[in-house]
Amino acid sequence: MFNDQKVSFSGVQPSGNLTIGNYLGALRNFSHYSEAYKCFYCVVDEHAITVRQNPADLRRRTYETLALYIACGLDPNKNTLYVQSHVHEHAELAWILDCFTMFGELSRMTQFKDKSAKHADNVNAGLFTYPTLMAADILLYQTDVVPVGIDQKQHVELTRDIANRFNQLYPDTFTVPEPVVSSTGMKIMSLAEPTKKMSKSDENVNAVVYILDDKDTIIRKFKRAVTDSDTEVRYADEKPGIQNLINIYSCFTGKKIPEIEQEFRGVGYGEFKLAVGEACSQALEGVQNAFKELMSDKKQLEDLMKKGSEEASWYARRTLGKVRKKLGFIQL
Ligand code: TYM
Repeated sequence: MFNDQKVSFSGVQPSGNLTIGNYLGALRNFSHYSEAYKCFYCVVDEHAITVRQNPADLRRRTYETLALYIACGLDPNKNTLYVQSHVHEHAELAWILDCFTMFGELSRMTQFKDKSAKHADNVNAGLFTYPTLMAADILLYQTDVVPVGIDQKQHVELTRDIANRFNQLYPDTFTVPEPVVSSTGMKIMSLAEPTKKMSKSDENVNAVVYILDDKDTIIRKFKRAVTDSDTEVRYADEKPGIQNLINIYSCFTGKKIPEIEQEFRGVGYGEFKLAVGEACSQALEGVQNAFKELMSDKKQLEDLMKKGSEEASWYARRTLGKVRKKLGFIQL
């Protein structure tokens, strides 16, 4: 809460091409808060370097992610949209929070366990302390709600623990944030292995539908999606492939699950998959057009980055100033 106004904060890493998982689990929910909340949405480039990035790709994806925020409906005049590395208070508060976060807590983070197994040759300290940088992102803005997919809920819960611990020692420092996870889009699964999360870093491009995939590619990918040897379009745990496709279709059309089962009763998987692909590509068309236009003017994107980081810095400085004073650091 800042000046009696509730705050929404979230972030996306520019570490790969964004997927429909990012869109349905996070991005498209960000704008729900634009009217009633003070909103900060950040492109978290500092988080991205916990795994090795090609500098040119990181730079390009940072522009693209900002453009996608806007293309997905975030008005830069109503939301503070910016890049994490442009506001140095994030890294500074992260160090302070490191001193209030336990080794055991960080060791229990599922994402750390997964990523350190996947990048066994580069289990760096940043990968380990990733959640304290995320806590700094959130706590700097006195955030009330954090719209995220289910995979990030554990990190927001740790942020709550850190905030409560800090507040106990130094009362009234941070607002304690709530994770907000949408009921349908919270976990979109891989099209190739439907028991695994759809991830922008998946090496199998057919397992993932990217927000910027063209219509033919989207339809081809859904056609190839792994399902089962049954023929019934039914929402059931033993049919994870079909369950995932029903979820995706529900997200893009707004139809409820029983309605979808009814719509495709007696129809084969082929026809159902085609309908999912069409609903998806139709829903993304507007986003893709807006994205292309935004990317054609880099200067405008840079101006927006500058405006966003100036706004964000103002709030970040206020919180960090309070923290420094409470800790006993000398103000000159
Ligand atoms: P990232 O970049 O991996 O993902 C961005 C957002 O997309 C959601 N998401 C999904 N939702 C549903 N189904 C999926 N398959 C799927 N894949 C990704 C994620 O849950 C996330 O909401 N650590 C964060 C970025 C971050 C952040 C923050 C988020 C940094 N600081 C502060 C919130 C608040 C991350 O890696 O997200």
